[in-house]
Amino acid sequence: MREPMKQEPKIGATPPVIIVGAGHAGVAVAAGLRARGWEGGILLLDAEKETPYERPPLSKELLKDGAPDESAVLRKEKFYQDKGIDRLPGVTADSIDRQNRRVLLSNGSQPAYHRLVIATGSRARPLTVPGAGLPGVQSLRTRADALELKRLLVRGTRVAIIGAGYIGLEVAAAAAARDCQVTVLEFQDRVMSRVTSAPVSRHFERLHGQHGVRFVFGAAVTAIEGDGRAERVITADGTVFHADVVLAGIGVMPNQELAADAGLECRDGILVDGDGRTSDPAVYAAGDVTRFTSPTDGASQRLECIQNALAQADRVAAHITGQDAAAPEIPWFWTVQHGVRLQTAGVRHPDDDVIVRGDPATGKFSVVYLRDGRLAAADTIANLADFRPARKLIAQGTRIDPTLAADPGIPLTNAILNDPTPADPTPADAALAAARI
Ligand code: NAI
Repeated sequence: MREPMKQEPKIGATPPVIIVGAGHAGVAVAAGLRARGWEGGILLLDAEKETPYERPPLSKELLKDGAPDESAVLRKEKFYQDKGIDRLPGVTADSIDRQNRRVLLSNGSQPAYHRLVIATGSRARPLTVPGAGLPGVQSLRTRADALELKRLLVRGTRVAIIGAGYIGLEVAAAAAARDCQVTVLEFQDRVMSRVTSAPVSRHFERLHGQHGVRFVFGAAVTAIEGDGRAERVITADGTVFHADVVLAGIGVMPNQELAADAGLECRDGILVDGDGRTSDPAVYAAGDVTRFTSPTDGASQRLECIQNALAQADRVAAHITGQDAAAPEIPWFWTVQHGVRLQTAGVRHPDDDVIVRGDPATGKFSVVYLRDGRLAAADTIANLADFRPARKLIAQGTRIDPTLAADPGIPLTNAILNDPTPADPTPADAALAAARI
């Protein structure tokens, strides 16, 4: 490991950009700064000790029987060396001295920064019921978590999964494929209720059912019991679920404490503007840890997706180097469960109009969401043909004819309604303009 104090800048030299966190956002800021010609120092702090890696495979490919215990790295070690990006693995930022523009690190050093970028991501929301600390109760966030889970998922194992979100369902699929007995306990009345509509939920519930996964909805877990190890999950109505492994996939929390303790504005996420600036102009933030105003609909949002991490990272790198960033993109998300791919464009609101395109029984269909008559979001299930046009139409705030949109034989681009007042700004235009002020 590097000698910490060597990171201190020479007197008179421009201090480095310090990036806290080496997930998708942090690594992309470092790469983006170099790509945009930043010639000063870059110091990348990483709480984890290994080369920064991809997270999506942790709940999918990595858990497969016989799959190597490796997960793809975001960038090879050589990249960091070639680009002069100093990594400090296993070192965290403990506090920020904003007045003197210094960060106090866990290794005792206090390097100065020219700009600070907080890309600390999010952490698994902890289960807080009695017994949650017993061995055999797991969450899944890091590669170490995934490898431990994989070790436990042997044939015949009874797996209780708490939460039917992305993590819970992807792990349910992996565990079922490994011939485990899987029960998913979900608080709400359907799967993926945070991110999708009932028709999509029902489709994935059927799919999981066909693979032997059992769901219990409206389940409020009150305790986990066992003799030195998790053996039973108890719900509020007194039902007992016997389990050898318990996985909690009940959402995430932003790692905002570093920013909040330094007096930066936070509200379930560090507040940033369209350039990734926090309430301190010398401090930026990017990725899961941020909250910002959506440039498409003006909503305050915290997005947990790689696309957003990369886009925000680019805007931060652009702003630090005084360049223009790429135009804002429509966020998108994906998940694969039992080999079926759900690809989502845009962010649906619960009160959007829901239009199903095609017959879910065929296994290939889309659901599009209209807000004030305009395409706002789309879920495509094994149906990539709708995905790209949907992203484009959402970005343009296009008005859509609901009857035409419901016909899967008609391309989405042929379901466009002529805007009666094309000169008027769309809600997306207005929000974009407001976000730029
Ligand atoms: P999530 O927010 O997607 O789902 C959490 C689920 O747990 C919700 O359905 C919620 O109703 C339920 N829940 C919450 N508290 C509960 C309780 N006490 N008892 C029972 N159910 C409860 O979060 P998840 O699945 O934990 O994912 C964590 C993070 O990982 C997210 O940021 C997600 O975006 C990311 N991720 C994304 C993937 C993808 O995009 N394919 C795959 C895996 C993870």
